[in-house]
Amino acid sequence: MGASGTSDRSTADGRADSRKDPRRFGKALIDAATLARRVEQLGKQITADYAGREVVAVGILKGAAFFYTDLVRHVGVPLVVEFLRVESYGGRTSSSGEVQLVSDTDAADVGGRHVLIVEDIVDSGVTMQYLRKLFLAREPASLATCTLLDKPSRRRIDVPLDYVGFKVADLFVVGYGMDHGGRYRNLPYIAALEGAQAP
Ligand code: IMP
Ligand code: MG
Repeated sequence: MGASGTSDRSTADGRADSRKDPRRFGKALIDAATLARRVEQLGKQITADYAGREVVAVGILKGAAFFYTDLVRHVGVPLVVEFLRVESYGGRTSSSGEVQLVSDTDAADVGGRHVLIVEDIVDSGVTMQYLRKLFLAREPASLATCTLLDKPSRRRIDVPLDYVGFKVADLFVVGYGMDHGGRYRNLPYIAALEGAQAP
């Protein structure tokens, strides 16, 4: 059946099944236009702050990929694109507390360079703390952190955040790169996932 098939999109009683059609749940917490405006502002701020320097921008996969590619297109200083992949959640809605480095940047040697870590969301702070330690050990000229979303109510480790797009309440959010069990990353806006409130 082609992508237009709809027979598997409803439950037995005819209600939409949000697990199968993510676009049917919740209203946007942050809509696409608001995201675009804020991402542009962050890019301009980074451009001003890094004037005369080259930045190694490290996007954290997979969640930050969407934010990252939008952000770097608004950065007007020389910029090296790098990605790194960590995992800590599995299919749960709160961090296991253990971060695993799944794949490193190509340019592991960032010594003497200006590194900017780009994350999707900082929740407990465990992941950002892990990333900061990883890069500080490589002795960069400077290390800064950028996150699209900040959930300060859930912080367990106090990590410095240099650029924050939006502060959000204690909700499990999906869309614009963020997932639940691998789904919903492709939503063009950010929504709260109902029934998945973190403990
Ligand atoms: P932390 O280590 O608890 O700060 O969690 C950071 C990582 O968990 C982020 O990079 C996200 O990938 C993921 N995460 C935290 N909160 C959410 C959420 O509300 N929705 C989706 N992913 C989240
Ligand atoms: Mg992440």
